[in-house]
Amino acid sequence: MGDCEETELIRDSVVFVHLISAMVLFGLPLAFGRFLGVTMRLGDRDAAATAGTLRILTHRYLYLSWAANLLTGLYLLSLVASSYGAMWRHGIVTASFLVGINIYFGLERGLSKTGPVHSFESLRKRIVVFSIIHHSLITALTAVMVFRNWLR
Ligand code: HEM
Repeated sequence: MGDCEETELIRDSVVFVHLISAMVLFGLPLAFGRFLGVTMRLGDRDAAATAGTLRILTHRYLYLSWAANLLTGLYLLSLVASSYGAMWRHGIVTASFLVGINIYFGLERGLSKTGPVHSFESLRKRIVVFSIIHHSLITALTAVMVFRNWLR
């Protein structure tokens, strides 16, 4: 295998992780609010169990997919930085940081408050706001990735 082919293989592997992590980042929290809403009808114990599971999913998979997407994106950026305008480069990195901030303040802080006296309805509303911001940001990021050659 030549040097050039090896570099291509590394880049393609990074793109693979970049895309899988973006899929998890978008898809995983899509139904968080619905899950909580459904189990709230069954009672506080079920709602607390669901909130606990959402917390584990956030800690184990959501942060991981966010970090993997950002790190692989930064690697890809280091290969092509000069081909794109400053607005595209700074815009995607800023959007990715906003995604992380929203996960922490919008989702995690709400989930960590869960206890016997916690109102699950306010947690559900918080998750709805988190989800609107999260899915708008990821949709915008996906659009600027796909149409990147028109945004040069
Ligand atoms: C939801 C989030 C994201 C999605 C769905 C996404 C998707 C994609 C896709 C489909 C490609 C094209 C791969 C190829 O054709 O080889 C790509 C490339 C790239 N992505 Fe992302 N991406 C996301 C987030 C990010 C972030 C946060 C960054 C930077 C920190 C980033 C930086 C890049 C760069 C620099 C490239 C290569 C562009 C080029 O080769 O011209 N991406 N991304």
